[in-house]
Amino acid sequence: MSIADLDFIKALPKAELHLHIEGSLEPELLFELSRRNNIGIPFSSIDEIRAAYKFHNLQSFLDIYYKGASVLIHEQDFYDLTMAYLQRCREDNVVHTEIFFDPQTHTERGIDIGVVIRGIHRALKAAESEWGMSSQLILCFLRHLSEEDAIATLESAKPHLEFIKGVGLDSSELGHPPSKFQKVFAMAKALGLERVAHAGEEGPAEYIREALDLLEVSRIDHGVRCVEDETLIERLKEQEIPLTVCPLSNTALCVYDDMSQHPILGLLERGLCVTVNADDPAYFGGYVNRNYLALSESLGMTREQAKRLAINSFKASYLTDSEKQKWIDTIEAL
Ligand code: ADE
Ligand code: ZN
Repeated sequence: MSIADLDFIKALPKAELHLHIEGSLEPELLFELSRRNNIGIPFSSIDEIRAAYKFHNLQSFLDIYYKGASVLIHEQDFYDLTMAYLQRCREDNVVHTEIFFDPQTHTERGIDIGVVIRGIHRALKAAESEWGMSSQLILCFLRHLSEEDAIATLESAKPHLEFIKGVGLDSSELGHPPSKFQKVFAMAKALGLERVAHAGEEGPAEYIREALDLLEVSRIDHGVRCVEDETLIERLKEQEIPLTVCPLSNTALCVYDDMSQHPILGLLERGLCVTVNADDPAYFGGYVNRNYLALSESLGMTREQAKRLAINSFKASYLTDSEKQKWIDTIEAL
């Protein structure tokens, strides 16, 4: 069996389903925006920013991530951020992306949600017309804030719902179970929105069950702690619930000491619909292809496994069945 090398990975068309647009803010753009918008940051050089990107858990990352996002002010900033990410997608042969954004991180600083959505959406439309890339936008609620705050955020998004495919749940997981957001997810469902949630990243397998049963999500973001619960693994397999797994994120945040311990290929072999994603690529050492490559280097991922992971990324997406099939046929022919 040949191991999937970078050329093979690059040749695979891929969908990305777990990407926080604020987590694609590279130090260079962060620095430029801090100057452009006159926002002070506690770093005097790009090297200093990179040196600060050493994390020991999710919270230690989130503290820096929210500070970084404070340089985003104008619609053009959100456009530039999104366009830089989409260009990286093009390099990696990511042909479809479903992007998370965290409106509360910006509205808390007095920025209108419309500014955020218009900037991101304009870049998505430019990538579609310039090189045919497809995309969706998923609005995430910050789980360390209250459900009332999440409901107010959903209300403020109502004038922009034509641009939003679904809602998600992110930020500090421990102590903020999915059950805290049952009402706002029911409201999102009534509005016809898709639903996903981070669960089982740092939090227990029980949070994955709650996300499925109480929030009625169609995908689980991360979900790697399902390995602690055999019955849950069987359920995820039987109900074909996709997991949007982020290998470099999991090692950067010390969920695993080393990539060789990562369960993704074991779950793939057990028949789960696992996918490979970057999460916050500017902070965790790479975009989608780097995540695939890490699996080749540390776990001996074969070409056949890489193809299955890429096929899963389309199966788990919100593309139409015919769009999914077109990409699956292309991958199978490789
Ligand atoms: N926000 C950005 N990245 C995240 C992650 N990996 N987990 C939870 N919230 C996040
Ligand atoms: Zn995430």
